[in-house]
Amino acid sequence: MTKLHNPWPYPQLVAHRGAGRQAPENTLAAFRLGASRGFLMMEYDVKLSKDGVAVLLHDDTVDRTSNATGIAGDRTLAELADIDFGAWHSPQYAGEPIPTLYSIAAYTLANGIRSNIEIKPTTGLEAETGTQVARLAQKLWAHADVPPLISSFSEEALEAALQEAPMLPRALLIEDEVPADWQQRLEKLQCIGINPSNRHITRELINAMCAAGYHVAVWTVNDADRARDLLNWGCSAVITDEINTMAPGKFHLG
Ligand code: G3P
Ligand code: MG
Repeated sequence: MTKLHNPWPYPQLVAHRGAGRQAPENTLAAFRLGASRGFLMMEYDVKLSKDGVAVLLHDDTVDRTSNATGIAGDRTLAELADIDFGAWHSPQYAGEPIPTLYSIAAYTLANGIRSNIEIKPTTGLEAETGTQVARLAQKLWAHADVPPLISSFSEEALEAALQEAPMLPRALLIEDEVPADWQQRLEKLQCIGINPSNRHITRELINAMCAAGYHVAVWTVNDADRARDLLNWGCSAVITDEINTMAPGKFHLG
């Protein structure tokens, strides 16, 4: 099994939600598009179907990103498979299915792409989702050179992931202002890093986080100059929707 990684075994540039702005987010089509732009790491959101299968989806409901409505976690995988997760984006992606974590593991591992699995529990299922996703990730990446980075806004989900698969590296996502006790939270969850919002991170905070030995991956950074600043200030990675101007190979730090 994998062991805790420090230093950072991941690229600096991470495609957000697969590459989920120019293709439907969190679908295999988005991953293929991101890979075609040279991205070697993807961030994506994972939750559980009614029958406990780990699938990629951002919201609690399927409303925004499909042709159906309702809570995704109220449907079995077979029921989710009958929904179109691509046509909402554009006709070329009509019929795109919801991916399972299994299929995304197969695609990323076969193509040398690193993963940031964001545990995005259906509201109320935080611990169960943390446990199940960590268990499956540990199994699917058991023979990988580099384990997936597990992140979540939910400290309950991360705690469950820690209990289930302690050797998978974890990062705490922060939605709003970074709380004053960020370091205690990271220590409690035995995280290797923190993933703060681009809206609320400062150079001073990055300095403090790096000085404390934590990796910092900021989301969502769609301005190349801002990305350069963040990386030059010591961030380990930036998570971006900008798969053209911030594509690896096009983007330079200097
Ligand atoms: O993991 C970074 C980012 O994806 C967190 O926000 O809402 O896009 O999942 P969100
Ligand atoms: Mg996410």
